[in-house]
Amino acid sequence: MRSETAPQGIDGSRAARKDEHVDLALGQQGDAGRNEFDDLDFVHQALDGVDAERVDLGVGIAFGAGPQHAAGRWRWETPFYVNGMTGGTERTTRINRELAIAARETGLPMACGSVSVALDEPDAARGFSVIREENPDGFVMANLGVGRPASDAPRAVELLGANALQVHVNAVQETAMPEGSRDFSSWIASIEQLAAASPVPVIVKEVGFGLSRSALRHLSEIGVGIADVGGRGGTDFLKIENARRPAGEYAMLAGFGQSALASLLDAPQGAPALLASGGVRSPFDVVKALAAGAQAVGVAGAFLAAIGRDGEPGGAERLVALVNDWKLRTRAVYALLGAATRDDLLATDLILRGRLREFCADRGVD
Ligand code: FNR
Repeated sequence: MRSETAPQGIDGSRAARKDEHVDLALGQQGDAGRNEFDDLDFVHQALDGVDAERVDLGVGIAFGAGPQHAAGRWRWETPFYVNGMTGGTERTTRINRELAIAARETGLPMACGSVSVALDEPDAARGFSVIREENPDGFVMANLGVGRPASDAPRAVELLGANALQVHVNAVQETAMPEGSRDFSSWIASIEQLAAASPVPVIVKEVGFGLSRSALRHLSEIGVGIADVGGRGGTDFLKIENARRPAGEYAMLAGFGQSALASLLDAPQGAPALLASGGVRSPFDVVKALAAGAQAVGVAGAFLAAIGRDGEPGGAERLVALVNDWKLRTRAVYALLGAATRDDLLATDLILRGRLREFCADRGVD
């Protein structure tokens, strides 16, 4: 991830940081324990189930027109996708290659990590273009950090022949980085400019601290049609940045932010189309996010773990097997819940517990 505009190299090059992020994120997978997905249950209806064969896992994500693209609707055959992670170094280029092969073989939409390194250092471009080479017909999302110049939007899209552009917001991560930004005052204007310059729809995404009701309202007001609420409880960039320096000065912020489920349940009327990510560990978490209002669900760390830290051949096969298993089990859980489609999941009875319940009560969510 960024800092996109801050000087590089204070604690090593941007390339070294990309490799380090992979190692530290994978280190966290081992201790992936409880999170707020465990605070949501379904009321079991013993006689309302449907035939798994009849389940349609496909989802439709509608978006409004932008200055440079018409309104439309993406149809994705699977309700989960590979979220933005990496690219640009030798190791992360191999990882992207394996991810892209798996995305091609399973039909999953796929995002890459921030392409800013490739826009600044053309040698790094192959770390991203490899995704389109391996998956010429798939749905691919480019990724940029907020604060980048508007002219980067079409460059990022062109680099991958991307169908959409993720713009990530990461104020908590920036705060924990000594070289990170401390001025977030122009972020709404920056998103507006990037969206105006993008030839494809923009998805604004948090990187693991959630999008509040107010943030989603701001995005609607400036015409952003799709948001990934990217909540707390999975890969933790506060921990990652604290681990990268001995003092760990911002460990005091541990637990900051909202989970994906809290963000979804708190979303206002008229919010952008909602994607959800952050802490998705299993197909059951996917279904929970869909039932709470997500149109589709992003997975990063759990899929990276299947590929492995070095991106050696064999990673794609492991991820294909995992994704196929997730599809099968997602279908089975839909059937158990009596849902033939994603929209049917919205009619399930949810029970909230613990911190998620407290958050919803405090926010007046019913
Ligand atoms: C990320 N993530 C990320 N997001 C983004 O928008 N741009 C980026 O460059 C990166 N880089 C990155 C590197 C690595 C190694 C990981 C694991 C993740 C964040 C990612 O998209 C997601 O929001 C979080 O990882 C939370 O999801 P999971 O991992 O809990 O499924």
